[in-house]
Formats: sequence, structure tokens, C-alpha cells
Amino acid sequence: MVVGQHFNMKHHDLIFSGAHIVSGGKTKLIDMAIQGEKISALGAPGTLGSAEKIFDVTGKYIIPGAIDVHVHFREPGYSYKEDWYTGTQAAAMGGVTTIFEMPNTNPPTRSAVELSEKKALAEKACVDFGIYGLLAEDNLNEIDSLISDGANAFKCFMGNTFGNLPSPSTGAMLEGFEKIAKAGLRISLHAETASIMAHRQKKLEEAGKNEPLNHLDARPEIVAIEAVSRAAVLAEWTGARIHVLHISSAGELRPLNEAKIRGVDITGETCPCYLYLDTSNYENLRSVIRVNPPVRTKSDSDEIWKALRNGVIDMIATDHAPHTAAEKMKESIWEADCGFPGVETQMPLMLTAVNQGKITLEHYVKISSENPARAFGLWPHKGNISIGAHADITVIDIHRKETIKAANLHSRGKITPFENFKTTGAPVHTLVRGRFVQKDRNICSDIKGHGKQVSDIQKMPPAKPNNAEHAIDKILEK
Ligand code: DOR
Ligand code: ZN
Repeated sequence: MVVGQHFNMKHHDLIFSGAHIVSGGKTKLIDMAIQGEKISALGAPGTLGSAEKIFDVTGKYIIPGAIDVHVHFREPGYSYKEDWYTGTQAAAMGGVTTIFEMPNTNPPTRSAVELSEKKALAEKACVDFGIYGLLAEDNLNEIDSLISDGANAFKCFMGNTFGNLPSPSTGAMLEGFEKIAKAGLRISLHAETASIMAHRQKKLEEAGKNEPLNHLDARPEIVAIEAVSRAAVLAEWTGARIHVLHISSAGELRPLNEAKIRGVDITGETCPCYLYLDTSNYENLRSVIRVNPPVRTKSDSDEIWKALRNGVIDMIATDHAPHTAAEKMKESIWEADCGFPGVETQMPLMLTAVNQGKITLEHYVKISSENPARAFGLWPHKGNISIGAHADITVIDIHRKETIKAANLHSRGKITPFENFKTTGAPVHTLVRGRFVQKDRNICSDIKGHGKQVSDIQKMPPAKPNNAEHAIDKILEK
């Protein structure tokens, strides 16, 4: 954060005074001014001149809003679980100012036609957003038009999950990586190998095993180790940028870290459920805990905490995946829908960890905002408090105590494994490009449609293509 570059006595729209501002690894007691959609000045308390409104937030922290690169807002097709309005309201309540939305809707976002349908539905968003295009076996011919029409990243389901989109063969993945590397967009991977899981689940079901922990039996960590390793070598060969979604196991950290050391442009995220829950929670939570990948052992979560602290895992996201209560509560584990909402609870849960000394607030800002902004090409407009950056701001009360209750969540599908969790620390105001979308723990009125797609600021230069002469498109051109 650069401080003091302001024109003295300038008139601003809004000045926040009295807060500690956390950005770029530093915390400073300074004032911040906003003009229009941007941060217009930062400087010593009382030095920024006048404003239409001075907002005294003494004792609070101001951080760049969280950027959650992994949410499922369900529209089109499953709006009874969530839609773009309810999902982005939940984001605003959670201190999240930008989200990237996943393509396993109905229809999936597999071509320019579906992308434009989704853009129309997203017009009611209250926070900024990116839209993922799908990379699958049967849409390789659509990839170029998805890119030219403004997909912000790609998602590849190496393992099946909600929506049951078939996972592409390794051959199709390689071709997809070749195509997307040229545009530089990042490819996010559901890194679980479908064939291993299908084989094991069939045997478990045939043997009548349908308890919650059998879900974990179907998906031991080898499914993630194999998938991360394979995706990393394909990325290395093609030069594609990749992102490992929802890291759940200690085992997959090794191929992730080794790929980083080899110079692969690979990033990784984990989600609160893999940090806070473990196998001891299956008995009580039963089918509510079912998520892909599954929650694993305490020693997995210990290793994931370590990796989050030491930078092997780059960011925190949520895999926000709402379902109805009826879809979640099933006797047989195989019938329960996978996943739960998370975009509203991530920040209170992670600020609780800050209060417990598990991570510093500066590091939380890095993993929740700065690193996702860098990895997905939004830096320096987002993920950063400095003059000229978007005023995407979350004000936090680090001492505020709350209890998570599904009934209070703003998502349509509310069932959460964190029911009755006590948290310390909460986002008390959220601003997206200078406008309050959440104030004093309430959604603001007239924010429907304030959210914009990030395409105009996203900068993803072409990745350095490797082995481009072997790309199937190149060979066919000859
Ligand atoms: O549990 C999950 N649910 N994992 C995923 O990867 C997808 C998600 C969903 O869309 O419901
Ligand atoms: Zn997901």
C-alpha cells in the first residue's frame, strides 16, 4: 500500500477514519478516501481533506474484500438451491467482493451460447464476478469462442460431482490445456480421478455399505494425488496455468509443491471444511458433511493448515455449494447431495483462526484476497488497498462474536456443517467499487445489479506455451 500520495484538502465522496488498514503484508493506522468507484487517497489520520461523509470506524480493521474463486450459484437450472441474487447477497454479508462462478449449472457453461445466457442471469449480482467456462470431452471446439466471449477462467471436472458432468479423457484435457494456454486463462481443476472413485463406489454399494464414512472410502487421497500429479505434468508440457481446487489431503500437497518447484504455473486453494472438520465429525453430521472431495483425518487438516501458512496452498476459497435440506438429509450416504454453502461463513471462520493465533491477519488478507487477485489476473485493481484500486473494501470487527445458524444465512440452500459454530471476528461493512452492499451486518437496499463481470480489468497474458509444435491444432494445420 502506498501512503500519502494524495492532493491535500481534496474533496472526496467518503473518508474512512480511525481504522487499521491491512494490505500488502502491512497494517497501518491511516485514513482512506474513496471517490466514485476507486480509492482516492490514503494518509495520516486527519490529513485527507473533506468528504461528503466521514465514516468513523475507530477500532476496526479495513481489508481488501475477499475474492472467492470457487462458488456455485446454480443458475441456470437449479435456482431453487441458489441464484445470482441470493448468492451474491450471501457474498456481501460474508465480506466477499468478487466471486468466480462454476459451470456445473443446467445447462452447463460449455459454449458461447450458454455463457451469454449466464451473463444475462448474472445481471442481478450485487458483487463483482467472473464466470467459468467448462473444459470437457465434447466441447473442445467451443473453447476459443468461450474465451473470445469473455469466460474468465476454465473448470475441468477430472472427477464427477454434483451435475454429473463426465470427466474428460487425458487426451481431451491435453488438447484443452493447449488451447487455453494460448489465452493465458487459468484452468481450475476438480482434481479427483473419476475412474478410481467409480470403481470403488460400485464395490461399496454392491456390498451394501452406505454409511457416511463410506463416502471417504470411495475417495481415498490417492484420487487427489493421482489427479494433481497428472494435471501438473499436462500443465508442464503445455505451459497452461492451473489451479487445484479444494485441497483436502496431506498427500496431494507433495505433487502440488513439486510442480511449483519445477516452475509449473500452479496454484492451490483449500476451504474451511478441510481446516475445521475431520473424520470425528461424520458420526454427528452424517450426510450433511458429504462433500467432494471428502473431509479427511485430523492429520490431513493439520498438514493443510501448515501448507496454508507456508505458502504451498495459495488461497482460501469456499466451494459454496448450496442444496435443500431434503437433498442433504438422506439415510444412504450415496443419495445425499454433496456440498454446502460457504461464501458467507468463510470470513468469520477464518477470523476466528486469526484470533486463535493460527494465522496472522496480514496472512489472511494474502490468502483471501491478494493471492486470488494475482492468480486470476485482477491485480492491482483488486486484492489491494492502494490509490487508484477499486474500492472493494471489507471493514471487520475482529472481536465480534457470532454463532453460525443456517436460518440466518442469505443463501437459499442453507444447511451447513458449521451449525452452532461460535466465531469471533466478522465483516461489519462491505463495499464493492465504492458502494456499500452490506452495512452493520445488513444487506443494503438497491444493490441488485451493482456487480460487474471482471473482464474489463482482467489481465492474463498468454502463458509461455511449451511444446507448441506438438499441439494437435498445430499438427492439423500442416
Ligand atoms: O461437494 C461438492 N459440491 N463438490 C463439488 O465439487 C461440487 C459441488 C456442487 O456443485 O454441489
Ligand atoms: Zn466446487
